[in-house]
Amino acid sequence: MCGIVGYLGDNPVYPVLIKGLARLEYRGYDSAGISVIENGKLELYKCKGKVADLERHVNGKLQSGFVGIGHTRWATHGPPNDVNAHPHASDSGKLHIIHNGIIENYATLKEELINRGHVLKSDTDTEILIHLIEDIQMRERVDLLEAVRMALNGVIGAYAIVIIDADHPDTLIAAKKSSPLVIGIGEGHNEFYLASDATPLVEYTKNVVYLEDEEIAVVNRKTGLSIRNIKNQEKTPYIQELEIQLEVLEKGGYDHFMLKEINEQPASIRDCLRGRLQLQKGSVTLGGIKDYEQKLVHAKRIIFVACGTSYYAGLVGEYLFEDLARIPVEVEYASEFRYRNPIIGENDIVIAISQSGETADTLAAIELAKAKGATIIGICNVVGSSIARLTDAGSYTHAGPEIGVASTKAFTAQVTVLTLMALGIAHRKGSISDSKFHRSLVELDSIPEKVNQVLEVNAQIRDIANIYKDADNALYLGRGFTYPVALEGALKLKEISYIHAEGYPAAEMKHGPIALIDEEMPVFVIATKGASYEKVVSNIQEVKARKGKVIAIINYGDTVVKELADHTIEIPETDDCLVPLLSVVPLQLLSYYVAVMRGCNVDQPRNLAKSVTVE
Ligand code: AGP
Repeated sequence: MCGIVGYLGDNPVYPVLIKGLARLEYRGYDSAGISVIENGKLELYKCKGKVADLERHVNGKLQSGFVGIGHTRWATHGPPNDVNAHPHASDSGKLHIIHNGIIENYATLKEELINRGHVLKSDTDTEILIHLIEDIQMRERVDLLEAVRMALNGVIGAYAIVIIDADHPDTLIAAKKSSPLVIGIGEGHNEFYLASDATPLVEYTKNVVYLEDEEIAVVNRKTGLSIRNIKNQEKTPYIQELEIQLEVLEKGGYDHFMLKEINEQPASIRDCLRGRLQLQKGSVTLGGIKDYEQKLVHAKRIIFVACGTSYYAGLVGEYLFEDLARIPVEVEYASEFRYRNPIIGENDIVIAISQSGETADTLAAIELAKAKGATIIGICNVVGSSIARLTDAGSYTHAGPEIGVASTKAFTAQVTVLTLMALGIAHRKGSISDSKFHRSLVELDSIPEKVNQVLEVNAQIRDIANIYKDADNALYLGRGFTYPVALEGALKLKEISYIHAEGYPAAEMKHGPIALIDEEMPVFVIATKGASYEKVVSNIQEVKARKGKVIAIINYGDTVVKELADHTIEIPETDDCLVPLLSVVPLQLLSYYVAVMRGCNVDQPRNLAKSVTVE
């Protein structure tokens, strides 16, 4: 997954590109590069490392260009190094390209190009594409736009590309399929910003066009923006107004985006509920799925497909939909679902959960389900994302941009949407009583404030993190609604602090993992009051009997577990089905502080990217 930017206009291009790349570094940061037409010459600077390394590499040499492209990379083909960094140049050196995505048939194309005498310098699939485009331009004697169109008709895979041409400094050409690309339109309508998402554009313009799959855009200083698809059909640009504010993108005074986003959860959950939870009317309204409500009410089965944290949100969804709406649910890892030849039919409803809306496995899973006739509903955070646009209906989580690679506020927003969906369907089905429905709405409405209360134990959690920051392993235990939270807590710890951690159903300890318990093993247990509280207390006693260290999340005033555990973190009581929204927050904070104390890069953990748009 990579970040791409482009600019054509009247202002110096270098500052626009370098700042844009910095805003996109969460998409990948193992190398970076830019190409600018400076004093009539196409200049290329690229290197391994981060955007800051690129700035040092450029070292002030780019001052006067007005058109350029830039790229920050997450390697898919070829290791992170200078030569594999983007942009890549054609044989003549007159065409440079940046690319986010993957060209699946690049090996065949590479062989054909080499046979035709092309000299390739890198191991990347992207370089193949720009050589192919120039090859077609020369052989077919067509202009660059037509050569791009013809080339893309022969490409299999995903792409968001921008091409700069040394002979046409007043033009950039972009194209998109499966990877995101947005075009910002400047004030004068002869100024254009191109990027993987809206964050680099928001400080310059609010008017954007999201390219659709297989569309090619030309931005030209004189003729403006024109779009056609790869079948050569003209398309009318649909200009939308951006709602993201610039300050939202800053860290807001926190040390890391992740801590900011953990602390944003009262607001992001409130934003997710706004306009959907009507307490006075005693109703739930999810406008994005209203045409499918009856289909959901009568669903024989619902399948959640997702990856990572979003998969764990789907597990919470399983408990919610089965317990409240009495609908059979299956939760599938998208990467497994898409290849196991699943039995899917027109009566199935597949719900895709994805913060970025660009996760390749999730995208492919719903494409498969769609092809088999299932109804596809999306729960995404990024408006206009590929998954959002592929589904029949859906609900945005409205959590705002989540920059930290470790998902936090998106998870609680996903669970909030799933809770609204399950309660609304259950009420329409009559599988819960009116009184339980209304009581649940009142309790759900109190969750943002209760999350605020949970955030107040921040200092205590930091102290606990300091005690266990050097652990080599950790176990997370939960039961019922909090079993998925145990899995999510373990994922948070491992992905940002690099400590090996496992989430388990508390009762499963007896079937093997208890052999791991010793005085070195911290065991985080969600032990809030609810259906399985007494059982969890027994599980805690089993751990203590083997000298394990127990850190328990409990409700205010619980003296029983306080007696047993080595540390307790108190949170407000709530309905069983809403405990995930509260109990995950201490685990997010815990993983954050452990990672900081271990000197890890919290917002950009090693080997990870915010959105995995490749298989
Ligand atoms: C979660 O903290 C991770 N960053 C990762 O597991 C993530 O949830 C997963 O890649 C799915 O991403 P998505 O929600 O954007 O589809």
